[in-house]
Amino acid sequence: MADSRDKTVYRATTTAPVNIAVIKYWGKRDATLNLPTNSSLSVTLSQRSLRTLTTASCSAVYPTGDTLTLNGKPQDIQSSKRTLACLSQLRSLRQGLESADPSLPKLSTLPLRIVSENNFPTAAGLASSAAGFAALIRAIADLYQLPQSPRDLSRIARQGSGSACRSLMGGYVAWRAGTLADGSDSIAEEIAPASHWPEMRAMILVVSAEKKDVPSTEGMQTTVATSSLFATRAQSVVPERMAAIETAIRNRDFPAFAEITMRDSNSFHATCLDSWPPIFYMNDVSRAAIRLVHDVNRAVGKTVCAYTFDAGPNAVVYYLDEVSELVAGTFKAILGERTEGWDGPFGEPVKDVTKGVELDKLDSRAVDVLKNGISRVILTGVGEGPIKSDEHLVNEKGDIISAGSA
Ligand code: DP6
Repeated sequence: MADSRDKTVYRATTTAPVNIAVIKYWGKRDATLNLPTNSSLSVTLSQRSLRTLTTASCSAVYPTGDTLTLNGKPQDIQSSKRTLACLSQLRSLRQGLESADPSLPKLSTLPLRIVSENNFPTAAGLASSAAGFAALIRAIADLYQLPQSPRDLSRIARQGSGSACRSLMGGYVAWRAGTLADGSDSIAEEIAPASHWPEMRAMILVVSAEKKDVPSTEGMQTTVATSSLFATRAQSVVPERMAAIETAIRNRDFPAFAEITMRDSNSFHATCLDSWPPIFYMNDVSRAAIRLVHDVNRAVGKTVCAYTFDAGPNAVVYYLDEVSELVAGTFKAILGERTEGWDGPFGEPVKDVTKGVELDKLDSRAVDVLKNGISRVILTGVGEGPIKSDEHLVNEKGDIISAGSA
């Protein structure tokens, strides 16, 4: 095979998860290779709630030029240097296999048709680049039958979007900043699989935001260039926290995990405020969520929940399954049944729950702000890395089909 008469449409499909960092990546030491100024650590979230599904296909029947369709819309990959860098590195790995074994079909010479869909609404305001690039890399690596491990592939995914390198693995994942100029030691690694601490839950409070935030790439460049708090964060605060949170995860020590998580989110947002001009990702609703998490912990008498915020106002609240009623129940009592998202795969523990901690133990202003500012919740938990799928988004003839319509 591998000749021009080969009309086969080669396909591979995968799903990839979202991850939410508990030690934040914020700052690049090399923008071209996308190398970070500090290591980071995240929890991979279950794909039962949130995932990107991607089919990578290639064929001699396709017109020249690689294409990418995302949620039904063709994307201009030629103007995305990051996507082009990922595609060319994966292609050259395939070329290496083909030159070592001439009997292999020359997939590296064929145009790629990549089709991707998220199972969560774009309107939910969740950053999808991590799951998107992780799915893209994993699907093409599978299509090309590359022998590289997720660790090896994380070097490529990192160049698509930094946080994407952590979505190639499940459970608890560290992205080591590395020190080498070529970035070869800037890779992700699994600290512990999801099965090590499967009780970890995450509740995403989606804030009804009216305005677009500063994109993370741009925001972090401003912080590195202008914040005087930033250097201390990158050089000493984060390295100490990385070690401490890895120990907390190893020991399944939730109070330690939670305090480090909250402090690191606050530290990252402090460097944003300290940037010039200042950058604000959190708003009044985010601050109300912070207040309420502290109030719940105080009311319970121990740290049972932790907040963290990325480059936007949405709160992610981590807690353990055993306190679902107390934590998710409190937020359910505040937001009411009518807020979308209490059902779904992780909704069972709060199905019939109508209250958590006594509402009079909570700041009433924060309760009001939250009630009016959250558009939906997503209940989820720690989950697995990318999973192979047969739900192809391209049929055997190469036509694009949409998920569920196959
Ligand atoms: C606040 O990975 O989106 O979510 O590498 O420029 O694509 P680029 O940035 P991106 O930044 C994520 C920033 C963060 C923190 C984190 O996920 O660690």
